Amino acid sequence: MNNPVELRHYLQFKDFTPEEYEYLFARTRWIKDKFKRYEPYQPLVDRTLAMVFEKHSTRTRVSFEAGMNQLGGSVITLMTRDTQMGRGEPIEDVARVISRMVDIIMIRTFEQEIIERFAQHSRVPVINGLTNEHHPCQILGDIYTYMEHRGSIRGKTVAWIGDSNNMCNTWLQAASIFDFKLHVSTPPGYEMKTERHTAEDRAHFEAFADPLAAARGADLVTTDVWTSMGWEAENAERQHDFEDWQVDAEMMARANSSALFMHCLPAHRGEEVAAEVIDGPQSVVWDEAENRLHVQKALIEYLLIGRTIV
Ligand code: CP
Ligand code: NVA
Repeated sequence: MNNPVELRHYLQFKDFTPEEYEYLFARTRWIKDKFKRYEPYQPLVDRTLAMVFEKHSTRTRVSFEAGMNQLGGSVITLMTRDTQMGRGEPIEDVARVISRMVDIIMIRTFEQEIIERFAQHSRVPVINGLTNEHHPCQILGDIYTYMEHRGSIRGKTVAWIGDSNNMCNTWLQAASIFDFKLHVSTPPGYEMKTERHTAEDRAHFEAFADPLAAARGADLVTTDVWTSMGWEAENAERQHDFEDWQVDAEMMARANSSALFMHCLPAHRGEEVAAEVIDGPQSVVWDEAENRLHVQKALIEYLLIGRTIV
């Protein structure tokens, strides 16, 4: 289909500039406020979003589907196992075909290289709904949520406790874009592979062997599951290796008294986070989940229509 704006993909957080994020967040606020006033905003009538899931999802699926419907468009959801992808159709061919029929595509898959190949063969914008290496839509929602509660994140300190996974990689890209510091504490053997990152990213990064030391003075403490999708075979080993990397009240007490707690969800209470923290007063996890809806509506609008008046 014809697309009136320049073809752009959103495959990792660094695909957008700080100035574009400033625009997207202003636009998110406008879209969210309008939605909360029950005022319809439907610029995408007759537009279609296709979603391709090679892994499980609750939030990503619901937020993209609800968001596209609220914008006036429609959604097609494909699960690998039900489609010809599950029988080995090359990803390049799938991208060529789907992108002739819909206006925008979100894909959740395994290696980042898969989404990159998909995007290279797509005629329409492709959004990363999570890969092994990145989860940009989640951090888009997280930064917006931080700003809603505390204002600018520039100059702040974010403590990442746990696995150096897709979320952690994306936080580091965000740290250099928004100029905040990322403290990372992982168990031995699970350290971040910073060589994958730019020198600019590394300048915003500090590794800590002790998770309590990483949390000291933080403005935001965040974590994620010990075993991400795709690593299930290592689960028993990880349960043992990560047992001292739980965000609990003692750890939150090392952070600033105004610190927030975030988790992209789904969470495992009693593993990476104590119930007293995720269900406690510093936790903003439900706002974080809700904001996926609003930021992604701004993202879809930006990729399909370009800039509009805020
Ligand atoms: N946080 C997140 O992406 O959740 P889902 O896996 O449920 O989509
Ligand atoms: N790191 C997790 C995030 C889930 C939203 C995973 O990749 O499974």
